[in-house]
Amino acid sequence: MASTASTMTHLECGYCGKTYDANQLINLCQECGKPLLVRYDLDKAKETLTRASLKDREASLWRYEEVLPVQNDWAMLKLGEGWTPLHDAKRLGEELGCRVYIKDEGLNVTASFKARGLGVAVSRAYELGAKELAIPSAGNAACAMSAYAAAAGLPAHVYMPVDVPSLFQVECRELGANVNLVNGLINDCGVKVRGVAKYGWFDVSTLREPYRIEGKKTMGYEVAEQLGWQLPDVIIYPTGGGTGLVGMWKAFDEMEQMGLIGSARPRMVSVQSTGCAPIVRAYEQGVEFAELWQGAKTVADGLRVPVAIGDFLILRAIRNSHGTALAVPDEEMLRYARVMGSKTGIFPAPEGAACLAGLVKLKESGWVKPDESVVLFNTGSGLKYAHLWA
Ligand SMILES: Cc1ncc(COP(=O)(O)O)c(C=O)c1O
Repeated sequence: MASTASTMTHLECGYCGKTYDANQLINLCQECGKPLLVRYDLDKAKETLTRASLKDREASLWRYEEVLPVQNDWAMLKLGEGWTPLHDAKRLGEELGCRVYIKDEGLNVTASFKARGLGVAVSRAYELGAKELAIPSAGNAACAMSAYAAAAGLPAHVYMPVDVPSLFQVECRELGANVNLVNGLINDCGVKVRGVAKYGWFDVSTLREPYRIEGKKTMGYEVAEQLGWQLPDVIIYPTGGGTGLVGMWKAFDEMEQMGLIGSARPRMVSVQSTGCAPIVRAYEQGVEFAELWQGAKTVADGLRVPVAIGDFLILRAIRNSHGTALAVPDEEMLRYARVMGSKTGIFPAPEGAACLAGLVKLKESGWVKPDESVVLFNTGSGLKYAHLWA
């Protein structure tokens, strides 16, 4: 059977640097309990992953197969993940007085960017022989995991907060998953998932397994490719677990090592809700790790993440890029959804609208300059959250 062009070599702890064989189902670093990152032979990858070769490749994240972990064609689960449009939001940009692009992730299968991470993670788990999968989720990740597990024929167990909108529960059930509602938040769901590890179900919690970040990093490859290999000045990302932000930061380093881009980097901005802003608080305090946020409350379910295992990686990317972190109130997210919608034709998830609310603040304060280019991530479709505006 055909093998892919993956150049994966091994796994490496993002904190202590300990290395691991990638050909095993594994969660965190066994030394320090921190996330494992995938490493590649980038000298080899760059022989075939070139600006020219990409022109003829498929319109999905699998176009970057040299820097993805899946080794066999049969294991690549394809439902329509990645290669989403990057809109040049001219009318919005004119109003704000800077160049604004929106990466519309609502067009992925199951209507959010979670399809990227779970598409790659479930493919890899399937390839490595996982028999059943379990996930704690704020909603979107559960839907994506259910879809890919169904495609692979693997039983899926999802754990979501009891107050997650019923649409997410319905989608998971109809995709064949076993849905468990937990009285608590996503971190409480995580505790439940750790409790079921005894059944041999593989835990695909974000950054607790090494491959979701690999799927999400393709957002960074796509932004570069879609902008003609010129990165924007600023990227604004709605941060829960922060996997996409950390993934894009990793992607930029890989791209530089392969000669696809130079050393310039965007300033990375984390946006959170004022009702749950552990990363913003840690950034402001100048600390390496973010403490658990008590009483997390926001309508943006994806941002209701009181504690992130990749906190130090998020904070590192923000600081090394000379970026920043800021929180916006829910009312502003809801208000700016209509601004984005009516000026661009994109109906954003509240998380996506939070990026616009953040940009308005950063523009007003002068942190974003008039001639700068900014990419906003609309991480999901507003259709799944229509109840918020009904
Ligand atoms: C629509 C949406 N946006 C943003 C996030 C946060 O993503 P990340 O965990 O990569 O920070 C989520 C996570 O659930 C989400 O569903």
